[in-house]
Amino acid sequence: MKFALVYAASAALTPSLAAAAIPRDFFNRCGSLVRDFKPAPFVRVELSEALAKGTPFVSPDTHPSCLRHVPKTYTSDVCRLRFIISTSGSSSTTVEVLMPVDWKGQRFLMTGNAGLGGCVPYHSMIDAAALGFATVGHDNGHQGDTAEPFLNRPEVVKDYVYRSLQSATTVGKVAVAYFYKGAARKSYYMGCSTGGRQGMKAAQDFPEEFDGIISGAPAINLNNLFSDQGRHRKNMGAPGSPTFVSVEQWAAVNELVIKQCDHIDGVLDGVVEDPFKCTPRPERMLCRQGQTWTSHKCLTSAQVSAVRRAYEPFYNSTGGIIYPRLVPSSERQAFRNNSTTTEYMWDWFRYAVYNNPNWSPDDFSISTAEYSNKVDLYGASTWKDLTALKAQGTKLLMYHGLQDGLISAESSYQYYEHVS
Ligand SMILES: *[C@@H]1O[C@H](CO)[C@@H](O)[C@H](O)[C@H]1NC(C)=O
Ligand SMILES: *[C@@H]1O[C@H](CO)[C@@H](O)[C@H](O)[C@H]1NC(C)=O
Ligand SMILES: *[C@@H]1O[C@H](CO)[C@@H](O)[C@H](O)[C@H]1NC(C)=O
Repeated sequence: MKFALVYAASAALTPSLAAAAIPRDFFNRCGSLVRDFKPAPFVRVELSEALAKGTPFVSPDTHPSCLRHVPKTYTSDVCRLRFIISTSGSSSTTVEVLMPVDWKGQRFLMTGNAGLGGCVPYHSMIDAAALGFATVGHDNGHQGDTAEPFLNRPEVVKDYVYRSLQSATTVGKVAVAYFYKGAARKSYYMGCSTGGRQGMKAAQDFPEEFDGIISGAPAINLNNLFSDQGRHRKNMGAPGSPTFVSVEQWAAVNELVIKQCDHIDGVLDGVVEDPFKCTPRPERMLCRQGQTWTSHKCLTSAQVSAVRRAYEPFYNSTGGIIYPRLVPSSERQAFRNNSTTTEYMWDWFRYAVYNNPNWSPDDFSISTAEYSNKVDLYGASTWKDLTALKAQGTKLLMYHGLQDGLISAESSYQYYEHVS
């Protein structure tokens, strides 16, 4: 399906205006890429155009769920190239390349996706191009921040897990070398969340593609990350159930946790600098006889137990850790919505793992977690060690926000231990 929501300004931009800011030779060579650049039979070039700084951004196929990735204008003079790679007989990846007039240090940068992929990270690309990087982004093999296209299409899942990134990197480098008449001197990867997981995938399986990788808040241990969302939902139940803890109540728990743990780092500043040293004691909020949330902002014992369980790791049936605990002080982000059904988790299990649109979050159990981990579609867990990276000499920078309520920061520590 194609979406034509943001068509507007392209026609208004006359070639002569763009040409005024862009060297004539660059302008012409960029324009002819669409005709001349033929890297392989499985690559179809869709467009190439030189765009001056300030040109309004236009995309022919922005899925409504991708609009937050769409910038207003180009912030540097670039050549934009767009092509489609057939990654199998039944899947493809749309790739965009931005090649700046001012190619600083001849550097290549691959950018990462977000959530369930499906959105070209145009914002990141435009920023990186303005910093002088020849920048590549791709749609991760499907359109939109949804897993619906995974249903009955295993090749699309494979693209999401790693193949889009790998193919887009390979062909993106060929395009950059072709356009500038010389290969990039250095090649980097940068992404956060799902993009962080993609960076770890490259670090684990194809580190030779990059000199340096930046992986933010990586969604590694992916199946278990989704299972953890399933267990939180199961733990609290739906709104109205005795164990349900509402957004407002979690915000109160957050205040309590900050009171209990702020001092541990030696500074009373309202920030828990080292959540790993924090053991919340939600019992402090237990209602006494005759008290209620409305009258005293307190919780029932069923709710206190649910809160307590959230701060425990999620264990499997043989006592192994499926996923670390909720990080204390991340409550507001983790439970920012009364809806305890997390769309990403639901999508992953119904459209990818079980390939059954009727799978419901009510069906979630420890066996869901164990099953998805055993199947581990195309290596989605992204949990190998870094032997290949070390052998290659590629540098890796990993960071994780300590108040990340969606991807527990303890998962990154867990990975460190796993590798070491
Ligand atoms: C969340 O649910 C509670 C009832 O469980 C309700 O009182 C509250 O208004 C809801 N909050 C929001 C932001 O929807
Ligand atoms: C439970 O987790 C441990 C540690 O990760 C793992 O070795 C074990 O195979 C898991 N058990 C099941 C039944 O999945
Ligand atoms: C709450 O969650 C529902 C279901 O996932 C979603 O549609 C809605 O946009 C969310 N609301 C907010 C304020 O995040």
